[in-house]
Order: sequence, then C-alpha cells, then structure tokens
Amino acid sequence: MKRIGLFWGSQTGNTELAATLIVEAIGSDIVQSYDIRGVDSGTFGSYDSLILGTSTWGAGELQDDWDSFLPQFDAIDFIGKKVALFGLGDQLGYGDYFLDGMGILYENLIGRGAKVTGSWSVDGYEHSYSRAIQYGAFVGLALDADNQNHLTPVRIKQWVDQILPILL
Ligand SMILES: Cc1cc2nc3c(=O)[nH]c(=O)nc-3n(C[C@H](O)[C@H](O)[C@H](O)COP(=O)(O)O)c2cc1C
Repeated sequence: MKRIGLFWGSQTGNTELAATLIVEAIGSDIVQSYDIRGVDSGTFGSYDSLILGTSTWGAGELQDDWDSFLPQFDAIDFIGKKVALFGLGDQLGYGDYFLDGMGILYENLIGRGAKVTGSWSVDGYEHSYSRAIQYGAFVGLALDADNQNHLTPVRIKQWVDQILPILL
C-alpha cells in the first residue's frame, strides 16, 4: 500500500486537476489518489497519512460527494492520523464564503482527534470571510482556479515541500 491516501471531491474538475498536480509533486509511488465518490470508509481508514481536497458550492457548502461521505467519518478512527487539507474556491465571486468547504472538513477532523497539518498564509488573497481560517491562517492550501489559476502550480509545490516531511 502507498504511504499517503489523497481523497478529492470535484464538481467541474478544478479540484481533480489540483489533485493530479499534487500527485505529480509528491510522486505516484508514494501517494494514491481517489475520487471520494464511491470510496468506502475501510479504504479511507486504512491510511495513516491523508491529503483531502474539496471545493465549495452553494453559499459556503461542502462539495456534494464530500457531503455524502461525511457521515462515514463516524466509522473511521482519526486519532493519530495526519491530515493535510486543500481547498478550491472563488475569492472574488464568493468572498463571504471563500473556501468554507475546507473549513467544514477541518471542523469534522479536529473534533475527531486528527492531527491537521499544512496551514497556509492568508497573504495574497482578497476576500471578506472564510470559515477555513483559524488563528489567522488558512487551515490548508488555498487555491483559486477562477482568479489565480497561474499561481496554482507554485503554491502546490511550496505546500508539498512543507507537508511531505510531516506526512511521511
Ligand atoms: C454556483 C457556485 C457556487 C459556488 N460557491 C462557492 C462558495 O460558496 N465559496 C467559494 O469559495 N467558492 C464557491 N464557488 C467556486 C468553486 O468552488 C470553484 O469554482 C472551484 O474551483 C470549483 O472546483 P471543482 O470544479 O473541483 O468543484 C462556487 C461556484 C459556483 C459555480
């Protein structure tokens, strides 16, 4: 089994593409990528190191497939698991709810004893509110394919360098 499980949920492909770039940056020999749609809790729970990616829809809602999977968190023992989060959102179109989906995942992990790593500076983003900000930083990598797509590869590379020593 590979050492890291990456689980993503994506409506129009942006989070999926970011997941592909993250796998390339880490190496496909180390990380296995899964669409959260159709994943069972046993597969998810078998990883001690996780990377979870979601977009935000509606007004600050979790991506649909993640929303469906969330009840299965109850069947997973998160204590001791290391988790890094990344989120896709639109800071200009949804500046009152920027990356809220990532914040919802975070809240559900912290409450279950997971060790969340990979926080990210809020510098360089324009928005008025985000549920994904804790103690002045994003709880995970903040990506915006709608307004800052050109920054995605460099942000991913920098973030992967930051999380990999912790996850491995
Ligand atoms: C109808 C609609 C609602 C959205 N709501 C939010 C939102 O509340 N917060 C946010 O940050 N982004 C929001 N977005 C932006 C998406 O999260 C963004 O486009 C993302 O890259 C989509 O990723 P996906 O294709 O992987 O689902 C919304 C986009 C649409 C079209």
